[in-house]
Amino acid sequence: MAFSYMPGFGNDFETETLPGSLPQGRNSPQRPAYGLYAEQLSGSPFTAPRGTNERSWLYRIRPSVKHTGRFKAASYPLWKTAPNVGDHELALGQYRWNPVPMPKEPTDFIQGMRTITTAGDVLGQNGMAAHVYVANRSMVDDHFFNADGELLVVPQVGALRFVTEMGVIELRPGEIAVLPRGLVFKVELVDAEVRGYVCENYGAKLTMPDRGPIGANCLANPRDFKTPCAWFEEKETPCRLTVKWCGNFHVTEIGHSPLDVVAWHGNYAPYKYDLATFSPLGAILFDHPDPSIFTVLTAPSGEEGTANIDFVIFPPRWLVAEDTFRPPWYHRNIMSEFMGLIHGQYDAKEEGFVPGGISLHNLMLAHGPDAPGFEKASRVELKPVKLDNTMAFMFETRFPQMLTRYGAELETRQDNYIDCWSDLKKRFNGTPEGDWS
Ligand SMILES: [Fe+2]
Repeated sequence: MAFSYMPGFGNDFETETLPGSLPQGRNSPQRPAYGLYAEQLSGSPFTAPRGTNERSWLYRIRPSVKHTGRFKAASYPLWKTAPNVGDHELALGQYRWNPVPMPKEPTDFIQGMRTITTAGDVLGQNGMAAHVYVANRSMVDDHFFNADGELLVVPQVGALRFVTEMGVIELRPGEIAVLPRGLVFKVELVDAEVRGYVCENYGAKLTMPDRGPIGANCLANPRDFKTPCAWFEEKETPCRLTVKWCGNFHVTEIGHSPLDVVAWHGNYAPYKYDLATFSPLGAILFDHPDPSIFTVLTAPSGEEGTANIDFVIFPPRWLVAEDTFRPPWYHRNIMSEFMGLIHGQYDAKEEGFVPGGISLHNLMLAHGPDAPGFEKASRVELKPVKLDNTMAFMFETRFPQMLTRYGAELETRQDNYIDCWSDLKKRFNGTPEGDWS
């Protein structure tokens, strides 16, 4: 079955599955067509400024109060929530991991969430968590919503299908999806095994960055964001709904599917985006800009220019700068950086950072190209070069990222990561030429 999408970022969309099921000219008629219930889902306070005011009207078979009964506690011990501080003994450092292992037991998307870092405080609605998901089983009668934040999903292995109350998003590696706070969904696997990264955003919603002097085009373009058309199922068999709420999990049993929205309109909705449609900009003479030039989405913090989260990619691109050290320079950063690699090779680390891997460079901890990368980039003839077949990304946040016990004790952590810089030589010898022997 092919699912359809509507283009645009943050549009006021409208979509219906049955003719006339979406009221026109009003939100809440006395009796909506088909006997549907009208329900508003708010993504911002009612009185938020118009540019950030988000809500959708859902016309559904049953109102959401019928999709929750009495809750009881549920347990997902590897999905952690900030603040989650001091639950391991690992000392401060720059860290890198090989891929999180695929599960041996039957594991769905929610069960397969493994938190690597948390940042900020969910109770203050700021910060984030960086997770890796691994799964080998579809959710059939299980459904989920996250009251703690929106979920930015970055697949790395395998295609999946997010069956949400507002429509269906099919997602494969190279694409990303954003599932708003509160949206009910389940995850079906298209491939037998899947793995990917998730950024859970406790703060203000992700939005497109302002482009400043870049102008009206390039980077991510609004039309390349795709929001699903309405889709519903009428399923009158036992189902479950699990809720993540302030770091705890609760489950409720219901007698039908909660995915029963026949029509909806509004601007609070899930969406997907193909990273291949990102039009990168960069240096065309010398030096290169800060990596913020590759920002796809940003979650503002309230302090101008200081993101709660930046989602940044390192896509295929031409490198043409003259007399320039072309890889990322050595740096220390007030923001903290969680990186993943979807496929290919990352230009500052040709070995050791593998697809599915993770690196963590926290607040003010020095990092940059490894010793072989520095040597090569310092001596290579500077012709135009296409950096191809690569897609790395970063979840960057203004907050320090606290490693979880799972991340600290994960067997794929590379104990020797720090050694990648040990062969960097002293080149200073008091002469302007330096020692390049
Ligand atoms: Fe960095």
